[in-house]
Amino acid sequence: MKIMEQELLRLQNEARQQLELLAKDDTLSMAQQQLEDFRIRYLGRKGLFGTIMRELGTVSADERPRLGQLANTVKSEIEKLFAEKQAELCGNAGEKKGRGGIDISLPGRYPERGRLHPVTQIMNEVCSIFESLGFSVAEGPDVEHDHYNFEALNIPAHHPARDMHDTFYVSESILLRTHTSPMQARIMESQQPPLRVIAPGKVYRCDSDITHTPMFHQVEGFLVDTQVSFADLKGILTVFTQKMFDKELALRFRPSFFPFTEPSAEVDIACVICGGKGCRVCKQTGWLEILGAGMIDPEVFKMVGYDPEIYSGFAFGLGIERIAMLKYGINDIRLYYENDLRFLSQF
Ligand code: DAH
Repeated sequence: MKIMEQELLRLQNEARQQLELLAKDDTLSMAQQQLEDFRIRYLGRKGLFGTIMRELGTVSADERPRLGQLANTVKSEIEKLFAEKQAELCGNAGEKKGRGGIDISLPGRYPERGRLHPVTQIMNEVCSIFESLGFSVAEGPDVEHDHYNFEALNIPAHHPARDMHDTFYVSESILLRTHTSPMQARIMESQQPPLRVIAPGKVYRCDSDITHTPMFHQVEGFLVDTQVSFADLKGILTVFTQKMFDKELALRFRPSFFPFTEPSAEVDIACVICGGKGCRVCKQTGWLEILGAGMIDPEVFKMVGYDPEIYSGFAFGLGIERIAMLKYGINDIRLYYENDLRFLSQF
């Protein structure tokens, strides 16, 4: 195995000479290119050194330890020389700059590009889907009167439904809105049917855990006209979920209660992860709850001066964070608001 030993030593010498020749009078970028060629030729996975290492597998067992050791020494020697040369070139780069030279072959530095927050992205997407269905977008105040947040929605003081809302009060009659439903009352009060409106925005509740943040986003939607039926609600929501999740998903309406709709329903979609078979995300039920909805309660119409004998309508409210969680498989709602770029830049 004298041959392999000689080959190793020859390789070491050759590499050393190559490095010495390199960059004597070349430009910086050429020298860097040559250095890279050197690395590939000698140290790369398919390089000369790799070939010898593979041959080592064929030598006899009693020769192998000694040759292996020699090979390692030679390799570290070449690596060391390479690193020294690299450091020297980098030093040169500094020097050249110092003398006013600019190495135009170096890649530029790109400024970090910002992007929209995932919640904003989903919000925009929801809005544009409903706009394509003829809805217009309205926005209202985050700091709201008790009247619009509760009274006008058929939730009088001391109504048990107020318990669900964990309200932040600013004063006795002013609060941070707990949902976007007050926009129903605000719009209906100032406009006449037919109406097709969505109202996106921030809402606030005194609640915080892996599925709740004290501030989150909802989109309220409602449609008022003559002869609006529950079938219209189903139709609109079916189209919406198909567009939102890019596939046909079964919808399920479960009877529920909201003071401002009658009848009311909570709406589930077939689990976007398992398609309804049952998995961890849907807690083996095959269904995911995505929104609350119903036919607008005649009491709400009366309070804004619409005649419930003439008009009917449906309303729904959905949580944006929740939709984004389902769409992207996010399991902790708090991630949205910790400003961790490693999370945010994925969207
Ligand atoms: N406002 C309700 C909430 O935040 C959601 C909701 C349910 C809105 C039913 C609606 C509706 O418009 O019809 O819990």
